[in-house]
Amino acid sequence: MAASDPWLALGLGLAHCLRTLAAPFRETYMVKEGGAIAGLVTITMYGTFRGYIQSLFVAPAFRGKGIGEALMAYAERSVFARSPNVFLCVSSFNKGAIRFYRRLGYRKAGLIKDFFEKGSDELLLRKTIGPLQSFNPGRNKHVKN
Ligand SMILES: CC(C)(COP(=O)(O)OP(=O)(O)OC[C@H]1O[C@@H](n2cnc3c(N)ncnc32)[C@H](O)[C@@H]1OP(=O)(O)O)[C@@H](O)C(=O)NCCC(=O)NCCS
Repeated sequence: MAASDPWLALGLGLAHCLRTLAAPFRETYMVKEGGAIAGLVTITMYGTFRGYIQSLFVAPAFRGKGIGEALMAYAERSVFARSPNVFLCVSSFNKGAIRFYRRLGYRKAGLIKDFFEKGSDELLLRKTIGPLQSFNPGRNKHVKN
């Protein structure tokens, strides 16, 4: 992660990436290929924005093979069993990832201007299966994956 955009472009180094994975209320799921970590997704399950995808990363050699989509499908199944929203932020310059998330059904919920640095905005995206009040944990019948 630390050697790849968007973390590289944002100056978020190894210490930041390790903290991201190790913080409380986070769950990390990995895909392994031949003993190597091909990709990972980290979810935060706490507070109003529980179901927040903290990081999604596929190692460069494994990109474009459906691993990112499989990780997102797994994360969504896991979140939607407990909460009706998946949230995530994506940097405005990360056009490939924005396309990827749109294709998976994520829609813009907000814009956080100048978040990491001046001129670099974060898009807050959301995928939902309904309002919080009508959500019935453990009985979600809407998830197909
Ligand atoms: C975005 C990312 C997780 C997608 O993972 P993946 O395993 O390549 O995704 P899939 O194979 O399931 O789908 C490929 C799609 O991702 C898009 N994509 C985005 N960035 C890409 C990249 N750097 N390399 C290849 N594909 C990329 C492609 O446009 C492709 O869409 P298409 O099939 O419509 O052309 C992966 O490219 C990645 O880790 N990028 C760097 C980290 C990042 O940007 N994470 C998101 C931060 S919010």
